Amino acid sequence: MGTGDEMQLLRLQVSLLRREISAIIAGTAARLRLRTKEDNFMLQGKKILLGVSGSIAAYKAAECASALTKLGADVHVLMTKNAAEFITPLTFETLTKHRAAMDTFDRNFEYKVGHISLATDADALVIAPASADVIAKLANGIADDMLTTTALACICPKILAPAMNSHMFENPVTQANLERLRDFGWEILEPESGLLACGVSGKGRMPAPERIVEAVVHTAHHSKDMKGLRVLVTAGPTQEDLDPVRYLTNHSTGRMGYALAEMAACRGAEVILISGATDLPRPQYVQIVDIRSADDMFNAVTSVSTSQDIIIKAAAVADFRPATVADNKIKKDSEGPYLSLRMEKTDDILLWLGLHRSLNQTICGFSMETENLVQNSRAKLQKKHVDMIAANSLRTEGAGFGTSTNVLTLITRDREIELPKMSKKEAADRVLDEILAMRKAREEKGEETERVY
Ligand code: CTP
Repeated sequence: MGTGDEMQLLRLQVSLLRREISAIIAGTAARLRLRTKEDNFMLQGKKILLGVSGSIAAYKAAECASALTKLGADVHVLMTKNAAEFITPLTFETLTKHRAAMDTFDRNFEYKVGHISLATDADALVIAPASADVIAKLANGIADDMLTTTALACICPKILAPAMNSHMFENPVTQANLERLRDFGWEILEPESGLLACGVSGKGRMPAPERIVEAVVHTAHHSKDMKGLRVLVTAGPTQEDLDPVRYLTNHSTGRMGYALAEMAACRGAEVILISGATDLPRPQYVQIVDIRSADDMFNAVTSVSTSQDIIIKAAAVADFRPATVADNKIKKDSEGPYLSLRMEKTDDILLWLGLHRSLNQTICGFSMETENLVQNSRAKLQKKHVDMIAANSLRTEGAGFGTSTNVLTLITRDREIELPKMSKKEAADRVLDEILAMRKAREEKGEETERVY
């Protein structure tokens, strides 16, 4: 082949690689619902080591590398030689802008003992996919390549996503190795069941990239400043039945509440999320209680509220429900051209919580307004005896139902904090910051929260 042909072939390969990488980035962003600009605070400034070992699932590690980078992380990939049989280092290098490390004795880099410097600075190590062979080495302290030497030197949190044939996974040797790693503090993500590349059906498929990324965010996003705290969050709309086929609801999608629950769990809290119907991905690190109506939510909240340190009511609870629910479908022509509905008030859950608060409990409500935002929200703070109202206006661009961002004003008895437009997850962190600051100030003054009843 002449030099011209070689150049043409090279150009073709580079263009195919570019297309492959663009497809990976687009696919991952869509699946993870990433809004790059808005969510990249989550791993900003964090150094994440991504270990890739030899498995057909190695191609999915490229999705993980892409997503972690989009969330702001500085991602460094460590590959075994077998991994490079499935995916090229160049793919990872293009996605992360760092050399994918494979050879412990590579002399062609700035002088530092490679595996030690990577291990020392890392905020988290995630090995995805982790083959049976790598798992066995890690469980027994064998360090014979870049990935295993680095893992042995890592003092940061470590996560493992096994991927292998189901018989290999179920083999007592592999199970014992995983148990040993669990005992050493590794987080082991359960593989999924399904048809495996080897043609066998069973458990052994690498967890989806979004699950792996969620585990990294959970571990590395924030210091565990809420460890030991029990947090109850409500989210989403309620549905009030009218007849067996119809219900009344509102536009809430649950995003703000889910963001609060996820961020509190990232910060180490034990979280219960009481959720109305939403189509959001279900967060892994919180306990979810599904409800439909305002009445269901009242029962679910009040059955656990007394043992909670912090309660955040982000749900859009119906204020009214049909006074009677028809036993049969209401027929179109049953009442002439108009249908009149008689509605009755639901219980105000936040008010009940304010009146029945436990000692040292912090309660935060939300307020959605279309006018007089601060005035109306402050009135709710007082009327419902709560510590904070996070207020947002439906009229403000970037706030409200279904958006990925919010513009909140945090109202407490003595302060008003106007937050700029930011992602709902970042806004959730700011709400939690303020709640913790309030609790700390009270603790320093030796004050107990007021009991109203
Ligand atoms: N809330 C509640 N139970 C209800 C209605 C509202 O717990 N039956 C809570 C919401 O979860 C939110 C807060 O009260 O945290 C404020 O809700 P919002 O709808 O803004 O105000 P309302 O109290 O319903 O008053 P209004 O409809 O007059 O604005």
